[in-house]
Amino acid sequence: MTDSVVASFTETKDDRLREVIQSLTRHLHAFAREVRLTQAEWEAGIRFLTRVGHITDDRRQEFILLSDVLGLSMLTVGINAPATEGATESTVFGPFFVADAPEIPLGSDIAQGAKGRPCWVSGTVRSTSGEPIPDARIDVWEADEDGFYDVQYEGNRTAGRGWLRAGPGGEYRFWSVRPAPYPIPDDGPVGDLLTATGRSPMRPAHLHFKVTAPGYWPLVTHIFRAGDPYLGRDAVFGVKDELVVDFAEHSPGTAPDGRSLDDPWTSIKFDLVLAPLTNR
Ligand code: BEZ
Ligand code: FE
Repeated sequence: MTDSVVASFTETKDDRLREVIQSLTRHLHAFAREVRLTQAEWEAGIRFLTRVGHITDDRRQEFILLSDVLGLSMLTVGINAPATEGATESTVFGPFFVADAPEIPLGSDIAQGAKGRPCWVSGTVRSTSGEPIPDARIDVWEADEDGFYDVQYEGNRTAGRGWLRAGPGGEYRFWSVRPAPYPIPDDGPVGDLLTATGRSPMRPAHLHFKVTAPGYWPLVTHIFRAGDPYLGRDAVFGVKDELVVDFAEHSPGTAPDGRSLDDPWTSIKFDLVLAPLTNR
């Protein structure tokens, strides 16, 4: 059976398509044989994928979420962004990036009404050879202290996201809010799968970064908060040790940029290192 299906693709003109579809056939058949898939289980699988399709629209991508909880997204990140010595590690992109977020000046605040303890984020953008990368574009986005991104609220408010350019020495700094752990959207079929398998939908607290500069590989990553109880069981397997950072807690007072705070605040330092395009 398997050999006939694999052979049926022999005339595929595109070499890569032939390789992928023949391999997929072999692995899919091996899976069905290994578990001795019953007719009822096959039907349940089809019903599940149909629900995944029905709930997917412009705002919700349940197929990507399925890929995330199965670890396929992180595996693909790993295959395509092999660690370049010294470069910042990559992790999942996630569904909450917004392409037309506002540009903010270096040192200003992306919170824009997002709830949470103020957090001063600073660092540099450099190449693996240590050169600063002035003007690198840094997109950042995060959930508020209740664990929701702006796009998960009614209305079109932009909060907890924006982009800025690194300064002449590759330095960057901005205000945001201290991120909190949150559940991935779990009111659909992927949430049902997590429940049925006794898994948690929670992700540890993180801040998303996308960093781009001409001549360098784009970097998609997170900063995770050290001590978060979900670091060892991220629902989408995105945690890498190098991305876990201590968040320093401060009493009310004056911040590094001179801002005076009446309430406690937080700060983090995180240097972003990009790999030159020639290095891979
Ligand atoms: C996120 O971190 O925004 C995310 C990643 C994968 C699935 C759901 C959310
Ligand atoms: Fe996130």
